[in-house]
Amino acid sequence: MKITSAGLLALASVLPFATAQSPEWGQCGGIGWTGATSCVSGTTCSVINPYYSQCLPGSASVPPTTTPPNTTPVGTTTAPTSTGSTAPAPGNPFTGFEYFISPLYASEVAAAAKLITDSSTAAAAATVEKIPTFIWLDSVSKIAPFGTYLSTASAQQKSSGQKLIVPIVIYDLPDRDCAALASNGEFSIADNGETNYKSLYIDAIVAQIKQFPDVKIVAVIEPDSLANLVTNLSVSKCANAQTTYLACVTYAMQQLSAVGVTMYLDAGHAGWLGWPANLSPAAQLFTSLYASAGKPSGVRGLATNVANYNALSAASPDPITQGNPNYDEIHYINALAPLLGSNFPAHFIVDQGRSGQQNIRQQWGDWCNVLNAGFGTQPTLNTGSSFIDAIVWVKPGGECDGTSNSSSPRFDAHCALSDAAPNAPEAGTWFQSYFQTLVTRANPPL
Ligand code: BGC
Repeated sequence: MKITSAGLLALASVLPFATAQSPEWGQCGGIGWTGATSCVSGTTCSVINPYYSQCLPGSASVPPTTTPPNTTPVGTTTAPTSTGSTAPAPGNPFTGFEYFISPLYASEVAAAAKLITDSSTAAAAATVEKIPTFIWLDSVSKIAPFGTYLSTASAQQKSSGQKLIVPIVIYDLPDRDCAALASNGEFSIADNGETNYKSLYIDAIVAQIKQFPDVKIVAVIEPDSLANLVTNLSVSKCANAQTTYLACVTYAMQQLSAVGVTMYLDAGHAGWLGWPANLSPAAQLFTSLYASAGKPSGVRGLATNVANYNALSAASPDPITQGNPNYDEIHYINALAPLLGSNFPAHFIVDQGRSGQQNIRQQWGDWCNVLNAGFGTQPTLNTGSSFIDAIVWVKPGGECDGTSNSSSPRFDAHCALSDAAPNAPEAGTWFQSYFQTLVTRANPPL
């Protein structure tokens, strides 16, 4: 949902490869690179990530210390705490289930609908209460309510006979949101973040799940984290977080798999990892991390477009996507899936919660409360693609992406762009006027 590095990498991707010296913005190194490793005068070969070095204008800057994920053991290799009966059934994990509706989001929507004076808009808004969205466990404080939700879901499915999925987002990495500011989190790497994440966050979630083994859980794992490791290691906070992110995501995969959670690792979106130059590095990161984690059986695939605005299948390319043949999520998925080969399960879920309106952004990298967005295709298993298990709403539409108040410590300039909605509150809090626009511009209509 966040930073794309798209412009730089788009340029790189169309430049000729095996020249004696790479041109400005050209690739000059990285795992698997066989072209020129020096740059034309006036530019310096700089490590962007383990798979990609680039001729950047100017003199040498100190490259971030990077550890190629496919050559170094990643994270803990501790065996999961339990195995066996929790291995997921093969096939689409959503088939035969209905969603548990987030009580928090339902109450936000109910309160919001009451504030809308126009009666037909209010009625449309109220219908959103019943549309399933993912439940973001974005801090330790959300774990106790999550336990209550599991208990409610267990009771509901016992009384109705209808099996339920509780859809969650694991989102509390130390030094979270390393290439942006709006969603910086509660744990810091410098202050015991990795241990806190494992023991206070993942272990606590696992403890809740163990109490309700009858409830099926589907989880999106750490939006933006691995994509940041593919394209944003030039940001020092991301470079510094690399080892910790890998260790924490590995731990999450192993521990959640051991209690039967079905997982989709976040894979950015078409305008981020979907650029041709980013596809192979992304596939290598996913496959190597999955292998070094011991191929946890709960990992089902990848989640794309989380909290972003891209169409699954655009009627025509938005002009801002120019230069990228993968201009929507289906093109991105079709390009990425073959690169995963047999080394990572090529199944996807795609967030369409705020993708109803297209051609609304000034730049593809604009991610914060984009103006004039509308609710998109509602959750369905009718995806039109054998790669895609489900169209989902991961971002609860109406919850803010980030504050537009420039004096906030989590102010990110993307949230004050001219195509970002003004007067935005803090990330995750309710943004009434934004919700109302999502309702009125919903496509298909609510
Ligand atoms: C925020 C989280 C929130 C999530 C869903 C993120 O941008 O940082 O706090 O839970 O969005 O609204």
